[in-house]
Amino acid sequence: MFKKIKETTCFIEKAVPGFRSEYAIILGSGLGETFNGFKLVQRLSYRDIPNFPVSTVAGHSGELLFGMLEDRAVIIMSGRFHYYEGYSMTEVVFPVRVLSRLGVKTLLITNAAGGVNPDFQVGDLVALKDHLNFLPNPLIGKNLDEIGPRFPDMSAAYDKELIRIAEDAAVVLGIPFHTGCYVGLTGPSFETPAEYQAYRILGGDMIGMSTVPEVIAARHAGLRCFAVSVITNQAFPGKFSATSHVDVLHVAGKAGKNLAALLKAVLRGL
Ligand code: HPA
Repeated sequence: MFKKIKETTCFIEKAVPGFRSEYAIILGSGLGETFNGFKLVQRLSYRDIPNFPVSTVAGHSGELLFGMLEDRAVIIMSGRFHYYEGYSMTEVVFPVRVLSRLGVKTLLITNAAGGVNPDFQVGDLVALKDHLNFLPNPLIGKNLDEIGPRFPDMSAAYDKELIRIAEDAAVVLGIPFHTGCYVGLTGPSFETPAEYQAYRILGGDMIGMSTVPEVIAARHAGLRCFAVSVITNQAFPGKFSATSHVDVLHVAGKAGKNLAALLKAVLRGL
């Protein structure tokens, strides 16, 4: 596995010569092509990158974008890999490990999520301050000692300083913003009302099918993580309604402007 990571990293370094970035952004469902001010230097389609899985979900274009955002060199992962697509957890987190080897030190992650906290409205942004993981752990198997320790600490998975920067920026920008605990599930079916309630009782604020594996792999590699959910549907008593992927993409697309503004502000604040 480590050999593959090195191979892919070497390929990218040759394909985008001289480009070094400490920052990477992972764009979730419907959140692609969000950044107006992004000055593209180079794009690589996932299908052209050796060892990269290829994204299969509608709304995910599947490419790595290298460029400048807020005067900082940034790598954007437009399209991610979900466990429910049939990838192994090792494949799901492969790009994060490559980003780390490319020199990325701070990872900004986005996702679409169902809100089980009744304070959340559709379109609100919620920074993750913690998570509950119901996906298989991506670190299961032989530990990659070159990357990180066997038993990585998760007591501060989400960087407090980055959350504070985002909180301040949201106030200035007038963006509806909260912090919360994200519940990571396999999907791909959405939850039943009883399930949504159960995850709320357990301490969850929002629910989704991504992010947690990426954060675990990133923390294993020592990256600083900031993650933010776009609430695409409300899922609590009195507000349950049928949820579809099309609805999720629609809301995510509309909230994309706020999300981009917030991430840019976080980059500026770093
Ligand atoms: N559940 C799981 N994943 C999701 C949801 C949801 O309600 N909304 C957007 N992604």
